[in-house]
Amino acid sequence: MNIRIIATILLFSAMSFAQSEANYDETKVPKFTLPDALVTFSGNHISDHVQWEADRRFEIFQFFERQVYGKVPGRLDEYSFKLIEESNDAYGGKARRKQVAISLKKNKKSITYNMLIYLPKGNPTAPVFLGYNFYGNHTVTSDPKVPLTKSWVPNNESFGIKDNKATEASRGVRQHRWAIEKMLDNGFGLATIYYGEVDPDKNDFSDGVHELFYTEDQTKPKTNEWGSIAGWAFGLSKAMDYLENDGNISNVVVFGHSRLGKAALWAGATDKRFAGVISNNSGCGGAALSKRKFGETVGKINTAFPHWFADSFLKYNDNEKTLPVDQHQLLALIAPRPLYVASAFDDRWADPKGEFLSAHYASKVYELYEKEGIATEQIPEVNQPLQHTVAYHIRTGKHDVTDYDWEQYITWAKAFIQ
Ligand code: GCU
Repeated sequence: MNIRIIATILLFSAMSFAQSEANYDETKVPKFTLPDALVTFSGNHISDHVQWEADRRFEIFQFFERQVYGKVPGRLDEYSFKLIEESNDAYGGKARRKQVAISLKKNKKSITYNMLIYLPKGNPTAPVFLGYNFYGNHTVTSDPKVPLTKSWVPNNESFGIKDNKATEASRGVRQHRWAIEKMLDNGFGLATIYYGEVDPDKNDFSDGVHELFYTEDQTKPKTNEWGSIAGWAFGLSKAMDYLENDGNISNVVVFGHSRLGKAALWAGATDKRFAGVISNNSGCGGAALSKRKFGETVGKINTAFPHWFADSFLKYNDNEKTLPVDQHQLLALIAPRPLYVASAFDDRWADPKGEFLSAHYASKVYELYEKEGIATEQIPEVNQPLQHTVAYHIRTGKHDVTDYDWEQYITWAKAFIQ
């Protein structure tokens, strides 16, 4: 057995050990006081949205930026977009396809990543869901016109991925996670990007978007600077620069599953141009409350994925009680824009109840804008969505993205995304 296979087996066994010895017992959730979204760090009470924006939103934002996800260290020297392919005849003539290369340049270095867009035909403009995929744009569709990603991809035997290179064997393997025809039939488009083209998901910072910003001898971001989640969120924002000027796109709802749900939430918090945000099973460091320590914890996530957050977040490992914020305040940063938090019943590692409560506590801030949130403290029954400006559902089944999830997102987006 070669070293890489052994290392992968060790990583997976460490991860499944972490999952099996996590707390899944509601009676063992520690007692904690949740920081109030409407009381400033210095103790002032916020009573309207003007005050929220002037005195509270920014201090919460800054905390997440410096102590959780990490700051983007500067500005790009240049960025550009190139339409590399276009057709009027995708999905049996239902859709228009565009493929756009996005290039970011800094310090004479550059990265390029590719966005695949399908737009429904019929209307001159359409709203789109923008979301990262895990294995390459060619995996979300069987469309032969979508090139294989040339970037590093995680090995996956069942997708035929060896030596970190995608081959034809992985075309379409993730179609079930992207209900593209349902989106098109309901007047929505999809824009998707392989997240590894922005920053490969491995614990080294020698490549991807971070490396563009290094000074000469730098090999990793500084303590308060961005980890991978903030890097991926930055990539979504740059994609937004293209999408808002495309001419055929009316609104963009940023979507993400799991680690990419964490990135979608941070993108929604940092960039107000996203008209709505969907967090699918985003769990710890995403929608779930950290202080509950149910399933994955801050210490566990920072150990298994040390590159996802800023190094400054490490001081909260097994020390969640000292966190002056919690994830409901990340959700509150998205207010008053529509926000959907979704869980799966068997996905205990992501703490469905913690995701629900977070949406509930964030709703206070939505109410300042007279937007309806999740008023009840009682998690709904499975497959009984609550859809307001803040929406929540818990579906049956495991950690995944299913047609059921997309059906809910589409119904909700029709009602709440203008
Ligand atoms: C791991 C990780 C989670 C993450 C998930 C995923 O389970 O612990 O935090 O959300 O991977 O991205 O699928």
